Amino acid sequence: MKKVALIGCGAIGSEIARAIDNKKVDARLIAIFDVYEERASALIGMLKSKPKRMKSFDALLDEDLDIVVEAASQEALKVYASKILRKFDLMAMSIGALLDQEFLDKIYDIIKEDNRRLYLPTGAIAGIDAIKSVKELIDYAEIITTKPPKGLIDAPYIKMKNIDLAIDKAKVIYEGFADEAVKYFPANVNVAATLSLAGIGAKNTRVKIIADPNIKTNKHQIIVKGKFGEFNFVVNNIPSPNNPKTSYLAILSAIECLRGICDDRIRIGT
Ligand SMILES: NC(=O)c1ccc[n+]([C@@H]2O[C@H](COP(=O)([O-])OP(=O)(O)OC[C@H]3O[C@@H](n4cnc5c(N)ncnc54)[C@H](O)[C@@H]3O)[C@@H](O)[C@H]2O)c1
Repeated sequence: MKKVALIGCGAIGSEIARAIDNKKVDARLIAIFDVYEERASALIGMLKSKPKRMKSFDALLDEDLDIVVEAASQEALKVYASKILRKFDLMAMSIGALLDQEFLDKIYDIIKEDNRRLYLPTGAIAGIDAIKSVKELIDYAEIITTKPPKGLIDAPYIKMKNIDLAIDKAKVIYEGFADEAVKYFPANVNVAATLSLAGIGAKNTRVKIIADPNIKTNKHQIIVKGKFGEFNFVVNNIPSPNNPKTSYLAILSAIECLRGICDDRIRIGT
């Protein structure tokens, strides 16, 4: 049975911990770490099998583990990933961080040298299986993300451009490419990062972000065209009640990814 540690006890991390506790994922949760100790303590309080609460990230590295799950932030992933991968496998949620090519190259070198695995769940979108299969044949890739204004409110771009989100109809907030979008909307466009990594890269993957006061879901439309034909995937995700920026599907995708890592006797899909 895989021994798991979790970094980040927010919307995604808490549900992953519960899924292990409820045996939906066949693993043992050994340790958890959050910069806010009270979040880690509150989560431990809700679990039947109590993991250790780590006082620091470095203490977590001294544990006997197979895999660490990052569900914290892009910044956290950048600081922790190399140290984790030197000792353990890693499942990362803050995928936007991997669009920094220098960082990705460094990570890739460690994975090869130390024979580790890095797992990136599909997250809040769909169709990554198909997109990976046609990767070499793609001419055009775009993701159009539509969210209620409250799901975009803290984004650096909104603050930088002083954008008023007190709107009464849908408004295009941003149009650009994924390499730039992940910096402007770090908590919102991990999906654009996943699409980029699976497809034709961040410099070629178009991103449009729309704020819509009349939408209740986080909607992602992915359009991919090429010599294979054309895809048009739309997901309308219910936001997590604990974090409106995070879609419920992202949580379920993370749980399913970890379940597969821990117990994949039959692998369905690409
Ligand atoms: N891949 C996807 O499709 C997808 C979808 C949604 C969210 N995400 C990303 O996953 C991550 C987690 O999302 P969430 O909704 O659970 O966020 P959240 O804000 O609900 O929880 C994050 C938790 O991590 C903790 N944390 C932050 N920095 C930390 C650090 N350096 N060390 C330890 N703990 C730290 C916070 O205190 C918080 O408790 C975010 O980066 C988010 O952008 C990815």
